[in-house]
Amino acid sequence: MVDINWDELGFSYMKTPFRYRSHWKDGKWDEGELTEDNQLHISESSPAIHYGQQCFEGLKAYRCKDGSINLFRVDQNAKRFNQSGGRLLMPHVPEEKFIEAVKQVVLANHEYVPPYGTGGTLYIRPLLIGTGDSMGIGPAPEYIFTVFCMPVGFIFKGDLEPSNFIVSDYDRAAPVGTGAVKVGGNYASSLLPGEKAKEQSFSDCIYLDPQTHTKIEEVGSANFFAITKNNEFVTPISPSILPSITKYSLLYLAQDRLGMKAYEGDVFIDELDQFSEAGACGTAAVISPIGGIKYGDDFHVFYSESEVGPVTKRLYDELTGIQFGDVEAPKDWIINL
Ligand code: PLP
Ligand code: COI
Repeated sequence: MVDINWDELGFSYMKTPFRYRSHWKDGKWDEGELTEDNQLHISESSPAIHYGQQCFEGLKAYRCKDGSINLFRVDQNAKRFNQSGGRLLMPHVPEEKFIEAVKQVVLANHEYVPPYGTGGTLYIRPLLIGTGDSMGIGPAPEYIFTVFCMPVGFIFKGDLEPSNFIVSDYDRAAPVGTGAVKVGGNYASSLLPGEKAKEQSFSDCIYLDPQTHTKIEEVGSANFFAITKNNEFVTPISPSILPSITKYSLLYLAQDRLGMKAYEGDVFIDELDQFSEAGACGTAAVISPIGGIKYGDDFHVFYSESEVGPVTKRLYDELTGIQFGDVEAPKDWIINL
């Protein structure tokens, strides 16, 4: 058994033994294989590192009570990966190839899937980069598709501990730019605002819609949701936010399992008092309750700065129960390894 203190995992890189690699050249993918080499050897002129021609995904493997391993909605990550790649003129990665790569990496590193009950999970990072000798602005002549993984804990505060966020003056994406796809440039542009938020002791920033700066879009690298005072689940709608797989799962669970009205709609930053609870949701964030939001001189507290609200807790229990195999999953949400 590997020697890891599972209770103290944060969200950091750890080299695990195996990663998957496949190369695209002359219009086709090679077979792909697992390797122990965690270094990429690429041309200094690769479009990925000059012009940001790259995209990635984030998903998790969960240890179940019986010792088996669950993958959550990996087909959705495969689809979004190709939407991201397509936006940057990168080659299609067949869904079966993507899912097979994820399975191979998880099974080869199975000892690194944290034990059931520790709260830890195995974070899986599929990545597609444009490589090869190339200087003009245009799509790369070659590509590398790689999938690696590491055990992780929480990205914000601990399990269901609320944290506070500040509304940023910066935009992370343009109104009809690349906000809806998972490409590195969106994250590069969020580094400075994120740093400024952390300097002021906030977990991260809230981004408003880049067109009017009146509506909430994203919570750092997670989607936003809120519970209205009449018990409805609402999450922002916009062409410049990432279509979060967790968000769509929560929309379904709020409606189907909790019997709530659940919808995507406008969330105006000056109307926060209509909500009783709020949270950030995403693969890394899972469900992280939002204590309060600072906007200009105002600081709005939702449910509490120290305790999770009851609806957020029920959604969390339902979602994580499905992911860890304790609650029956909707059809096709889980692959059990
Ligand atoms: N929004 C951004 C900007 C993200 O980086 C992520 C993380 O993937 C999310 C939202 C949440 O998406 P998902 O639930 O698919 O992980
Ligand atoms: C995720 O939730 O998977 C993310 O990609 C968030 C972040 C760490 C980039």
